[in-house]
Amino acid sequence: MSEIDTTRIPRHVAIILDGNGRWANARGLPRTAGHAQGEPVLFDVIEAALDLGIEWLTAYVFSTENWSRSPEEVAFLMEFNRDLLRRRRDDMNEWGIRIRFIGDRDDPRVPDALRTEIAEAEALTVANTRMNLVFAFNYGSRGEIATAAQELAARVAAGELLADDVDVDAVSRHLYASDMPDPDLLIRTSGERRLSNFLMWQSAYSELVFTDVLWPDFSRDVFADCIVEYQNRIRRFGGAEEA
Ligand code: IPE
Ligand code: IPE
Ligand code: MG
Repeated sequence: MSEIDTTRIPRHVAIILDGNGRWANARGLPRTAGHAQGEPVLFDVIEAALDLGIEWLTAYVFSTENWSRSPEEVAFLMEFNRDLLRRRRDDMNEWGIRIRFIGDRDDPRVPDALRTEIAEAEALTVANTRMNLVFAFNYGSRGEIATAAQELAARVAAGELLADDVDVDAVSRHLYASDMPDPDLLIRTSGERRLSNFLMWQSAYSELVFTDVLWPDFSRDVFADCIVEYQNRIRRFGGAEEA
């Protein structure tokens, strides 16, 4: 494992945790076994992030496109997320984590019991400041941006806002978590090299790190390698380096 520079820790790390189904298939197990196997991995990474002083950690756990999976897998994931929150929220609270959700939780396809669990976890941890743990659940970037556009259009129509004031900052303020800083580092596991509708607005200048490791095989050590890779990048933000 290479050395992390503790003076240059990314403020916000976002992760597309992918490869659960393939991990399970390779072992002759149902896809859902891969999701279950991914839970301790997520908490290992959360603890590593706390140790490193990462302020924001976002995990993509269910996309607006994931409804197209089998009803059994979708039902498993809904129950799994609810159960995970219930079992883990007190630990996360004690660790000083503020739990947040981005995405369309009001979608009627989201079970009421999960919606309630989400609200309770958020309320329980609302005053915590050590780290923001954001679950992107029933999340899709295009829907998020379209909703922001709708809200802004409604405000213009109501005479509260001028069309000229619909600028980059105004759109950012209408996203799910307006106080969330853009990810510095975006990690995707499992060898896929795409965003799959994740934080497309927010990742305009994120460093993208792809690893072939499937999510259930991910670990705090692979996470550390991803951070080292991030630290070896030169971020220009459109500027130029001194000669
Ligand atoms: C990621 O693993 C978890 C979710 C999308 C919920 P997948 O379930 O996408 O696993 P693969 O990509 O099929 O292996
Ligand atoms: C993205 O992974 C969504 C989550 C990790 C929750 P997918 O497995 O759904 O993405 P695609 O279908 O391979 O693009
Ligand atoms: Mg996948």
